[in-house]
Amino acid sequence: MGKVKVGIIGLGSWGSCHLEAYATMPQVEVVALCDMNGERVRSLAERFGVPHVYTDSAEMLARDDIQLVNIATFENNHFEPAVRALDSGKHVLVEKPVSTKLSEAEGMKEAAERNGKFIFPGHLLRFEPRYAEIYQAIQSERIGTPHSMFFKRGRTKAMFTTYKRIHTVYELTVHDLDLAIWYAGSRVTKVKSYGKKVNDTTVPDILWTSLEFANGVIATLHSNWMTPDEAGIVMNDAVEIIGTNGTAQFENSGSNLQLWDATGRKSPDYFIHQAFQASSTGALRDQLSYICNCVASGNAPTYTSFADAVHGIEVAEAIVKSFESGQEILL
Ligand SMILES: NC(=O)c1ccc[n+]([C@@H]2O[C@H](COP(=O)([O-])OP(=O)(O)OC[C@H]3O[C@@H](n4cnc5c(N)ncnc54)[C@H](O)[C@@H]3O)[C@@H](O)[C@H]2O)c1
Repeated sequence: MGKVKVGIIGLGSWGSCHLEAYATMPQVEVVALCDMNGERVRSLAERFGVPHVYTDSAEMLARDDIQLVNIATFENNHFEPAVRALDSGKHVLVEKPVSTKLSEAEGMKEAAERNGKFIFPGHLLRFEPRYAEIYQAIQSERIGTPHSMFFKRGRTKAMFTTYKRIHTVYELTVHDLDLAIWYAGSRVTKVKSYGKKVNDTTVPDILWTSLEFANGVIATLHSNWMTPDEAGIVMNDAVEIIGTNGTAQFENSGSNLQLWDATGRKSPDYFIHQAFQASSTGALRDQLSYICNCVASGNAPTYTSFADAVHGIEVAEAIVKSFESGQEILL
């Protein structure tokens, strides 16, 4: 089997992690990079030895030697390149949130079906070992049917200065919406959300949501951007799933490694993505490997679900509506 030929659109902080991970995967060849920031994309292409560079994604997508297009542009900038890539016969990985509009998310799914191509949502927590093990424990009856689910996702105040560019539900909560939908194995029917705008007036930096699913599962999701930068904690997340036969829980603020240096104490995360001199590790690399195996083999993905991602955006829209109106929203 030949190498999977990949083109990446969007090489900001997360797209460049994708490039770092692909660069250590022997089954992959990154043939082209595109970012509207020409200086940035040229310097990354030089560093990673990628032969073709673009600042206009339409030009990159006119190439006929790319099998998989990896989209990591701004959150509200995914639709146009995704549909263009699918219409030009390429498979697509689109970062979370797959879109910030339900109509666009549905449009991407239709474009994939129309062209007989795969579209993968960038919900990489399905590949993070702790979340994946909880899913298996639900499926294998060790925890059994879930009844109550709690998810917390906390990030630093410094990150909020960048990511307040979009509503918190699309940046943070959308991860937990995918997990909740996956674990519940059902669709959300009822949404109530509330929160606070502490450090900004446009989007909440504290957001709480209650969900009810068609099969009776209840869930609470809490996202915030309130971790003080000085704490040195990249991720402050927690999970508790209560099922018929057992309970699963973890929290990750400690991360098991502490680095003390002149700037203070840091607890870096190694579960998501870490590049070393000789390799890379983490959920991102495992997700990309799974996707490239699907592309190389022609086997449709069964572990990722774009339909779940579309439902996640439907619920996200209801969360915004509930947050703004103070009303419970029925789906
Ligand atoms: N799965 C995860 O855990 C995870 C983590 C971080 C970010 N993300 C997602 O990845 C995406 C990118 O986030 P980021 O943090 O890298 O943002 P970023 O602002 O650092 O980078 C975005 C890049 O996209 C480029 N860009 C935007 N629109 C473009 C276009 N139309 N054509 C070409 N280039 C374009 C920008 O120039 C920029 O370099 C977002 O959707 C974000 O939510 C996912």
